[in-house]
Amino acid sequence: MTARIIDGKTIAQEVRAEWKLRADALKARGITPGLAVIIVGEDAASKVYVANKVKACAELGLHSEHIALPADTSEAALLAKIAELNSDKKIHGILVQLPVPKHINSEKVLNAISPDKDVDGFHPLNVGALSTGNMRFAPCTPYGCMKLLEKAGVSIEGKHAVVVGRSNIVGKPMAMMLLQANATVTICTSKTVNLAKFTRDADILVLAIGRTKMITGDMIKPGAAVIDVGMNRDEHGKLCGDVDFNSAKEVAGWITPVPGGVGPMTITMLVANTVQSAERVAGK
Ligand code: GUN
Repeated sequence: MTARIIDGKTIAQEVRAEWKLRADALKARGITPGLAVIIVGEDAASKVYVANKVKACAELGLHSEHIALPADTSEAALLAKIAELNSDKKIHGILVQLPVPKHINSEKVLNAISPDKDVDGFHPLNVGALSTGNMRFAPCTPYGCMKLLEKAGVSIEGKHAVVVGRSNIVGKPMAMMLLQANATVTICTSKTVNLAKFTRDADILVLAIGRTKMITGDMIKPGAAVIDVGMNRDEHGKLCGDVDFNSAKEVAGWITPVPGGVGPMTITMLVANTVQSAERVAGK
C-alpha cells in the first residue's frame, strides 16, 4: 500500500480562506481581530515561528503586534506587559512564545494571560475546559492535527488512537481532543516499554516526541493514519519528523509529510482562535 499524503499546505490555505471570510464579516462590523505575539530573547527557531505567526495575521487582514523583548527582561516587566494587553480592546489574542528564558517562570506567565485572550489554550482554565469537554480555545497544533484528519476524511469515532508524547503543548491536548471525538486513546512516552506493541495497534498514530525517524514502517498498522508533529533535523541537517517517511508511506493509509504537514496548520489554527475570540467579544 502507498499512503495518501495529507497535504498540510493545501488544507491550511483552504481553512485560512474559511476564517478570512469570518474575519472579513467582523471587520464589516467595525471589529478587526487582533493578536499580540510576545517573544523574550533571541532563540533562532522561536524568532522564525513568531515572524510566521505575525505574517499569517497580516495576510488575513488581522491586526497584529509583534513584541520582541530582550533576554534579560524581568518576569515583573513581562507580567506588566501581559496585564496591559489583557485590557487592550484592540487585542483579542495574546501569545507568549515558549520557551521563555530560565529566570522567568513560564507557569506564572501563562496563568497571567486572560483566559478570554488565551489563543494558545495553555491557561489552566482552558486546559480544564478542554478536559471537561467544554473547549474554549484549542491548543493550535493538536487543533491543526484534528483538522487534517477531518479534511482527509479519516474517521475517528471508535478507533484506537495512539499519541506518542505527553507535552502540554501537543501530546496531552491531542489525546483529549481525540477522546472528545470518541476515539479510544492510548498515550505513550519516550519511556514506554515496547512502544511498537502500541503503535502497531493504532488506527490513528500521532507522533510528538521529537526524535528523528523514530517510527519506522514495521511499527505501523497497515492502513493507519499517521500524523507526524516532529520537527527535527536528520544527519544531513534536513528537516524531518519523528516518522521514517519512506518506510512508513508503504504501510500507512494516510501520512503527513515534514515539512508541509502539521506545520502550516498550527499557525492557521492560531489565526482561527484569534478570529473566534473576536467573534465572542462581538457577540457580547
Ligand atoms: N513553542 C512551541 N510551540 C508553541 C506554541 O504552540 N505556542 C507557544 N506559545 N509557544 C510554542
